[in-house]
Amino acid sequence: MAEINHALSWTPRGSNPLRVVVLASGNGTNLQAILDRFRESDRVEIAGVVSNHRMAPALDRARRDQVRVAVFPRDGYQGREARDRQMAAWIRKQNIQLVVSAGYLEILSPEFVDQFRDRIINIHPSLLPKFPGLNSIQRAHEARVWRSGVTIHFVDEGVDTGPVLKRRAVWRKPGENLSHFESRIHSKEHKLLPQVINEVALGKIKIGISQSDGLVRETRKERLARYLDQFAAMPKKIASALGPARTRNHPHSAAGAGHH
Ligand code: GRF
Repeated sequence: MAEINHALSWTPRGSNPLRVVVLASGNGTNLQAILDRFRESDRVEIAGVVSNHRMAPALDRARRDQVRVAVFPRDGYQGREARDRQMAAWIRKQNIQLVVSAGYLEILSPEFVDQFRDRIINIHPSLLPKFPGLNSIQRAHEARVWRSGVTIHFVDEGVDTGPVLKRRAVWRKPGENLSHFESRIHSKEHKLLPQVINEVALGKIKIGISQSDGLVRETRKERLARYLDQFAAMPKKIASALGPARTRNHPHSAAGAGHH
């Protein structure tokens, strides 16, 4: 296990700000939301930004704010593990307590995850465990879900599988197109991520301790939405249970099902 003693000596609400490194691969609008929120803050300091792409616009956003940047492109190393080892070493030098993966589109190696266990959070544009992985907003839209949303979770060795910290729903409006739905989900992300980082800095969300007890605190609204989802899925379940019999009696009924 790597040394993270510097992190353990930090206490929320102490005189030192929470030091954060952000990982970003692309555009970096989530990074921008974080920079904007904490630019003048004495509670949170963005100590560095790391990317795997030399040309990532996220790097320019960081440079504009005079935030230190580092790039670890995959082709510059002998494999992902070697690259992640260098990346972890650079991050440790920044003396940080929290790693925020904000649109970092590569899987972190198990060794990296272990070095910063319970100190890496990730933002994902769906209500996990639904639609993990890439293109989540598009897949949710194509699946015609009633609601999708945003999840912030601790990173473990899986793909979008770690303990959930916060989820926020975004309801799909009738007939809403993908780009509109997408932009509403992104706006939700831009609010939620700085909020969670702030809560870490306030000590309301604990980092660096085992999260194995599961963290999802479902709000009443979320519980109601979950029941509604189950309720909405019922006719489908009943139809599929009755399916073969109905198909025998009404050979064209399956073709009509998609219009409902
Ligand atoms: C966000 O939707 C984030 O949830 C996902 O990748 C996207 C990154 O967007 N993991 P940006 O680079 O922050 O604009």
